[in-house]
Amino acid sequence: MSAFVINGGRRLSGSLRVQGSKNSVLPILAATVLISGKCTIHNCPRLSDTECTIKILRSLGCKVYRDGNSVTVDSTSISSSEISEELMREMRSSVVFLGAIIGRIGEAMVSAPGGCEIGLRPIDLHLYAVRKLGVDVEEGYGRIYCKVKNKLKGNKITFSFPSVGATENAILLSATAKGSTTIVNAAREPEIIDLCDFLNSCGAKISGAGESIITVEGVEKLSGCDHTVICDRIVSATYLIAAAVTGGDVELISANPNHLNSVLPLLEESGCDIRIRCKDVRLKAPMRLRRIDKIVTQPFPGFPTDAQALFTTLVSIADGTSVIVENIFESRFKHVPELVRMGARIRAEGRVAVVDGVDRLYGAEVFSPDLRGGAALVLAGLCANGVTKVRNTEYIDRGYEDFTDNLCMLNGDIIRKDISDGRAEKKEVKTRRN
Ligand code: UD1
Repeated sequence: MSAFVINGGRRLSGSLRVQGSKNSVLPILAATVLISGKCTIHNCPRLSDTECTIKILRSLGCKVYRDGNSVTVDSTSISSSEISEELMREMRSSVVFLGAIIGRIGEAMVSAPGGCEIGLRPIDLHLYAVRKLGVDVEEGYGRIYCKVKNKLKGNKITFSFPSVGATENAILLSATAKGSTTIVNAAREPEIIDLCDFLNSCGAKISGAGESIITVEGVEKLSGCDHTVICDRIVSATYLIAAAVTGGDVELISANPNHLNSVLPLLEESGCDIRIRCKDVRLKAPMRLRRIDKIVTQPFPGFPTDAQALFTTLVSIADGTSVIVENIFESRFKHVPELVRMGARIRAEGRVAVVDGVDRLYGAEVFSPDLRGGAALVLAGLCANGVTKVRNTEYIDRGYEDFTDNLCMLNGDIIRKDISDGRAEKKEVKTRRN
């Protein structure tokens, strides 16, 4: 158990190279299951979620080695098609293993991902895609058992919503299915493109990634390759907002501004000066941040739900009233009561939050409700008057590599402290019951 202790009020400045994308690396590591051979994935961030993915790979019988930020997976000797309930619970996105395991072994047994901090997160769209390609699905006692009827067979899959995870499962399943698969209303996130680039380097025939219709021509076999994961666009947004809320000046090296097309205009609307040079992005904050009229989360290329909590902190100290609409997950305002403890004036009801900007936030003891909500509280601590203690750091560790070191390098005053009074666990239990 640890907490981040932040001495607020220091202006962030300097430059930083942003880590590899968590949401790219998880499905890419899962995809190595499909490949009988060795793959080396570079720019693989050290996160609790990547370590959990590696644990799952090992539990399936894959050989996995890490050398710095490169991870080599050899799935030649894969021996199991089952992921234990314990591992499934540790990381909800483990459901993306479903398509890869079925594609390789012809069957898979996983658990329904458990209750959740940001919404229900059902997997009906994943199972719809699985069934469409010729797989029998049986559900019972919290377990899901999938078995290919005869052969995986290409088909048309039309999603009612462009789910990121379900699109990834559909791609993984169809990569080695017989014939052609068309995925209609596919998710268009950069992480989908990264997954398809990786699979195509392994010999897959996937076209249309990044568009709403993806076509997959199934191939007999995939072989190993080396792949470098893209930069994490949500982590990029986090450091840019850290600069914005502290009146700072920060440059992100190789941040890929194309992936931030829906985020950068909102930072400009708040008065920040954004300069782009090749793939580098520099943000200079104004004396006082301005309100942002409306922040509406949408599937890519719209504004990302993962950046919503981070922007809530920003508009909390902006001049004027801002409105936030969360369209992707139904319970993604759990950071709001914690920000209110720090002096923010926010009213949240259902999917809408109205934020009246205040002059300053004040340090307090707060609890991370989830990964991005926790990062939003760290940002609040960086700009608050006084000391902020952010508990439940294990959520933040799921997505941020070297978070405290990077913020200190940019002149932030933040340390991780071990705590052992058990209060964090009590709050966690309460949150889940709610
Ligand atoms: C991924 C990202 C997560 C991001 C989210 C939306 C990873 C590891 N995680 O999560 O960081 O916040 O995309 O950009 O890449 N839904 C259903 N049925 C399904 C699947 C999803 O109703 O079978 C709903 C979800 O409850 C949610 C919405 O669709 O309301 C979006 O979910 P989805 O795009 O699937 O998100 P994830 O892949 O879980």
